[in-house]
Amino acid sequence: MDIDTSALFAPIVINRRAAKNRLSVAPMTRISATQDGRATEAMTRYYERFARGGFGTVITEGIYTDQAFSQGYFHQPGMSDEAQANAWKPVVNGIKAHGTLAIAQLMHAGAISQGNRFRDTTVGPSPVQPKGEQMTFYHGKGTYAPPVAMTEAQIADAIDGFAESAARAIKVAGFDAIEIHGANGYLLDQFLTDYANDRADRWGGPTEKRVGLAVETLKAVRAKVGAEVPVGVRISQSKVNDYHHKWAGAERDAEIIFGSLADAGVDFIHVTEFEAWKPAFATGGPSLMHLAKRYAPHAAIFANGSLHIIEQAAAALDDGADIISIARGALANPDLPRRWSERGVLNNFDPAILGPIAYIKEAELAM
Ligand SMILES: Cc1cc2nc3c(=O)[nH]c(=O)nc-3n(C[C@H](O)[C@H](O)[C@H](O)COP(=O)(O)O)c2cc1C
Repeated sequence: MDIDTSALFAPIVINRRAAKNRLSVAPMTRISATQDGRATEAMTRYYERFARGGFGTVITEGIYTDQAFSQGYFHQPGMSDEAQANAWKPVVNGIKAHGTLAIAQLMHAGAISQGNRFRDTTVGPSPVQPKGEQMTFYHGKGTYAPPVAMTEAQIADAIDGFAESAARAIKVAGFDAIEIHGANGYLLDQFLTDYANDRADRWGGPTEKRVGLAVETLKAVRAKVGAEVPVGVRISQSKVNDYHHKWAGAERDAEIIFGSLADAGVDFIHVTEFEAWKPAFATGGPSLMHLAKRYAPHAAIFANGSLHIIEQAAAALDDGADIISIARGALANPDLPRRWSERGVLNNFDPAILGPIAYIKEAELAM
């Protein structure tokens, strides 16, 4: 098969910021910060390699947003105060030095927090025990405890944490853009998920209400960073603790979720599925990236999920995606864009990189 892959190397503008190509590093938590949540020199070298390797955009790992319930993992980096924001500066400078856009992913772990130095209990939409087990490669062990249902004041504080952290990420650390983590089973996705949210107030009920926390967070971040900063939201069906979850309302849910984000002025939506090109719901139906484009036509769509085969990545651009984000393929090939443009061979991803604990290893940086 010899298909035209040049579209992967065409620039794109997302709310006034130009990315030099359509290739992005997907967010990956590597728990390599200091105990008090400051980014380190190893992280600077780790992120800089992707920019040097030709990625147009780098999205950071999930960064926690407050000094209450947001932290998910010990040694996760934060953006919850000036010291943490300052520690990101060298990382951001290293990324930008190569003409690559730096996007901060802001994340609140909610009920699936498994390591928080500020709190020893968790909160979520409702006191429903999360499915699945904690991740051992992030120091977790056993099942998750049921969270305490968030009060209205705690919800307001969580939204505020995102907004204040977004302002620090842009104004102090120097990031180009913000990605709000609304996917993969973390707090905003817990509110979106039917079985995790049985609230009877304005944050629960039908999908329109359950997506409300993601929408209000987006609006609060926008109000803090202004119209000129690209702000996006990551959305998935799958969760780290419930891999096969599907939205009960299928395409109608997709319409509500992507449409609500579009109405709230989202600049980009980052969708992730195990295999991005597969039908999101029934056999033969559209992919999630296709539905995101259909219901948020003015947003740039980042598509993620097993897109490390160049032909498949190029085909995704014809199926609604504007940018392809790559996680495991980027770990194995920090210079993947360069290899692709030169039609070089890729290294296979070796999961041993992440074991037994997923912190950044010197051997990896020497690759
Ligand atoms: C080590 C590791 C850490 C991850 N951490 C995050 C994260 O912090 N935030 C997030 O949204 N997704 C995270 N993900 C999910 C990836 O962004 C991506 O969705 C997933 O790996 C599938 O993409 P791939 O097929 O290109 O690997 C992580 C994935 C891996 C492998």
